[in-house]
Amino acid sequence: MQKIVHLKSKNHSMIIKVDRVPEILHWGAKIAQIDPDLMLSTERPISQARLDVDVPLSLCPELGSGHFNAPGIEGHRNGEDWAPVFTTTSIEHDDNSATFTLQDDIAGLELLIELQLDFNSDVVQKRITVKNTTAGEYCLGKLSSTLPLPNHANELMTFHGRWCHEFQTQRLSFEHGGFMQENRRGRTSHENFPGLFAGTNGFSEQLGQVWGFHLGWSGNHQLRADVRSDGRRFVQAGELLLSGEKRLQSGETYQSPWLYATYSNSGLNGISERFHEFVRANIIQFPNNKPRPVHLNTWEGIYFDHKPEYIMQMATEAAEMGVERFIIDDGWFIGRDGERAALGDWYLDETKYPNGLEPVIEHVNNNGMEFGLWVEPEMVSQDSNLYRQHPDWVLGLQGYHQPSGRWQYVLDLQNQDCFNYLFERLNDLLTRYNIGYLKWDMNRELVQPGHQGKPAVHGQTKALYRLLDELQAAHPAVEIESCSSGGGRIDFEILKRTQRFWASDCNDALERQAIQRGMSYFFPPEVMGAHIGPAECHSTNRRHAINMRGVTALSGHMGVELDPVKESAEEKQAFAHYIQLHKQYRDLLHSGRTFRIDPADQNQNIYGVENGQEMLITVCQLAMPNHALPSPLRVSCADENARYEVKIVEMPKTSFQLMKQRPQWLDKTMTLSGDNLKEIGVTLPILDPESALIVHLKKM
Ligand code: DGJ
Repeated sequence: MQKIVHLKSKNHSMIIKVDRVPEILHWGAKIAQIDPDLMLSTERPISQARLDVDVPLSLCPELGSGHFNAPGIEGHRNGEDWAPVFTTTSIEHDDNSATFTLQDDIAGLELLIELQLDFNSDVVQKRITVKNTTAGEYCLGKLSSTLPLPNHANELMTFHGRWCHEFQTQRLSFEHGGFMQENRRGRTSHENFPGLFAGTNGFSEQLGQVWGFHLGWSGNHQLRADVRSDGRRFVQAGELLLSGEKRLQSGETYQSPWLYATYSNSGLNGISERFHEFVRANIIQFPNNKPRPVHLNTWEGIYFDHKPEYIMQMATEAAEMGVERFIIDDGWFIGRDGERAALGDWYLDETKYPNGLEPVIEHVNNNGMEFGLWVEPEMVSQDSNLYRQHPDWVLGLQGYHQPSGRWQYVLDLQNQDCFNYLFERLNDLLTRYNIGYLKWDMNRELVQPGHQGKPAVHGQTKALYRLLDELQAAHPAVEIESCSSGGGRIDFEILKRTQRFWASDCNDALERQAIQRGMSYFFPPEVMGAHIGPAECHSTNRRHAINMRGVTALSGHMGVELDPVKESAEEKQAFAHYIQLHKQYRDLLHSGRTFRIDPADQNQNIYGVENGQEMLITVCQLAMPNHALPSPLRVSCADENARYEVKIVEMPKTSFQLMKQRPQWLDKTMTLSGDNLKEIGVTLPILDPESALIVHLKKM
């Protein structure tokens, strides 16, 4: 069989040559038509002193055919069938998608490789299903999706992080060797976000060719980018299976998670634009089409100190500030007076709430706000009634001591009794109370993820998806936030069943600038929970003026995380101001195209959103300006044929310390043409460190 499959989207082409196995010849800019001589022009030479045949970098590279880097599949059948070599037996395709069936009759394995290129967003999805087609158990070690990169993709941008410091980026040279990330934490994790970029040397926000990748999976994963010694290179991602975790009986299948990827010739902006468009159209499902409500979350305001009258006072003040959804965080259920006890006992603590939760909810609703509640269903505290009754429901390994995390353990969701108990408890809460929103937390890693002695991260992750799916089917109007200690479970697959991420437990606006920037490459602002915290940040003790806190929170899905009762009248007025500003531009922020501008001063973060009619650009001075005078703000995405009304909508209230005379336009509305904005730009004021301004541009 020799065949060419050409998948096309609005701007991209993926050309796949199928010989014995399918191999991508081109993935990037659109090719109008396939040349008759394409096969000839892409034939590779065979080098001296190595294998006598050409080895394709196929859609599932094989050790058994001489691919000496990471194979796409690994496993064995009682010590045999460990180096399968496949032959393509069927191809089904249209202009946007293709499914290849490959078989190895000796090893008794069949692969189904699916590729879908979304026409509008140019995002390609890939997954593989393997079937054990013969007698005897096949122990699958790995099944990953591989996508090739051209040799001029010679730089990588990868992610690292930790709690309160998520979505940090680093650059790596990609000429020899490679990069590998393995996540064994049992959740998407703060440390190993499953995404990376490869691009041409020095690719930036606005410039360069870039290929972006994200694995949609909330459990363990392996993500790697390899350069073969012959210069060919590829990215590979899949679930990381623990030893013996996937044993396929005859006729059984295993399906890999989706790998999402896209290409851009306009730097990282082109990547985020495409991922956002794809996520908006194919991943997020909002139960109704309302604007994303502004939150007040009680956690940092009162922690475990729950007093209904006081909480109602907080709600009154929240409503006065413009808050639209009020969420009671941790501390509302029996025995939960601190972090060491009570997880699993999902019944209202009537000593704290003697009149029930209803009066509080009614009060919240009467103040025009929706009510939300915090839960952490996957967990159990040793000091809880649930643990005392069902110690065997813990995910673990008998005979071993398992370290606790935040003094808690993980429940085995594959234990059907445990699953039923959790469904019953959550279903009861959602039925009994008028709850519009659940903040779904998950505060520890899986250390000994054993179900009946067998490794179970895969099963646990699937069971979590099932629990969420069943709850959403029973309560379709309820929205869910994926929290996980803030930032610990952020990926496309969990987003199919949730509506918001708590991006980080860190409300320090300076830290948030980096965290939110990293997250914005993949996720649109409407799912990025961003809250104004108190002046002195609880996780870092750093202090920020309200300008920096307000500006940083208002570009995401905005909220407030403090006790309004204790704040000064001046601060409360300021919260109301930023909430109002957010609402004024919410439609633009939550549906427009996000972009970032390469700053001349590396101590600035410049980002914006536009919808063809208007634009909001934030300039944040992260640290001391690099030079005495700032560079002009050049608006590269301005329409050259249009004129714009340009005005500042937000800047620091206190005096600027580094500037004795400010540009006059700060207090005026200017009219500027698109080419002027693009090429000459707008002079910026000298911003003090850790302060920010927002410019609004409107087409006339
Ligand atoms: C971790 C979350 O990220 C916080 O926002 C808060 O909900 C606490 N857990 C509550 O225990």
